[in-house]
Amino acid sequence: MAIISSSAPGQPSAGRSSAAGSTLASGRLVDPAPVVEEESQETRVAGGEVPGREDSLRPRRLADYIGQRELKQVLGIAVEATRSRAEALDHVLLYGPPGLGKTTMALVLAEELGVRCRITSAPALERPRDIVGLLVNLQPHEVLFIDEIHRLNRVAEELLYPAMEDFRLDITVGKGTTARTRSLPLAPFTLVGATTRAGSLSSPLRDRFGLIQRLEFYDLDDLQAIVERAAGLLRLELDAAAALEVARRCRGTPRIANRLLRRVRDVALVNGHGRIHASLVVEALSLHRVDGCGLDASDRRLLTLLLEGYGGGPVGLETLAAGLGEDPATLEAVIEPFLLQLGFLQRTPRGRVITTAGRRHLGWSADSAA
Ligand code: ADE
Repeated sequence: MAIISSSAPGQPSAGRSSAAGSTLASGRLVDPAPVVEEESQETRVAGGEVPGREDSLRPRRLADYIGQRELKQVLGIAVEATRSRAEALDHVLLYGPPGLGKTTMALVLAEELGVRCRITSAPALERPRDIVGLLVNLQPHEVLFIDEIHRLNRVAEELLYPAMEDFRLDITVGKGTTARTRSLPLAPFTLVGATTRAGSLSSPLRDRFGLIQRLEFYDLDDLQAIVERAAGLLRLELDAAAALEVARRCRGTPRIANRLLRRVRDVALVNGHGRIHASLVVEALSLHRVDGCGLDASDRRLLTLLLEGYGGGPVGLETLAAGLGEDPATLEAVIEPFLLQLGFLQRTPRGRVITTAGRRHLGWSADSAA
């Protein structure tokens, strides 16, 4: 796959069309935007080369994508039906914790459909012209991937409604009494939205997605297979037991599995180990303070504060976040989901509570008072 920039020869550049030049948002006046010379969003072409660490290990086709069986089944059927009808795939919303493969799936869908995937994220679509530029440059059936879609501002979101529903852009040109609304036809396209917080999406936006799918944490077998596949791509000799040890420590998350594998590779290289055994994985990952369940220093800090600072809870999210010096949203979307999944933490109406399993993990007996 190739990443092309806006200035790559022969590629359209966001914001150069007349629509973008006279920018505006549905029913709302905005100053006409100057021609945009640079595009902040990455543009990737399915079928070329994708540089970058994470990209080099991504599966490119559905058949290479390990795990998420239900998701693959649902999207596989949708892709096949869409191809036979020669239409754009229905819009897809992918939600779930970070690192489970939402971006990867958007790229896989584009590859399966034989089209380009344009990648951006909601915070990069600050001005109306940002999203207008992207939309007017889409070619028929292309995929537009918007990460963190729950962070879209209202103007961008309102521009998306007719774009998603009728492949139409409603823009207002001019100011004051001379303002007129114009509708521009768009090429039929597929929006793939990704979010860690499906509940934060407005319902009008959520309702415009034809396919809404949750990505789940991966089980050990799938993670072991993902680690073995990545080891092959990195040309590492890795025992099956070593792959399993990485799998156990990656919090059910392929992105973390691949990151840990690279740390193990460093230790193997520096210590002169050709073949990587399980004992080397344990040694390398304890060096990085990743424990046998995959908890890292942030997870243990949360559980320890809950137990030692608040008697095991219940304690409110905001209080816990303040005590840890973390943003509550990050705590909720990034750190807590795996602790909940492990059964170390519970969310109750009165706040967060550490469980017996969580206490035991910290080395406390089940009934010990904090
Ligand atoms: N690398 C990261 N995620 C993967 C997945 N789901 N399948 C195969 N390789 C991966």
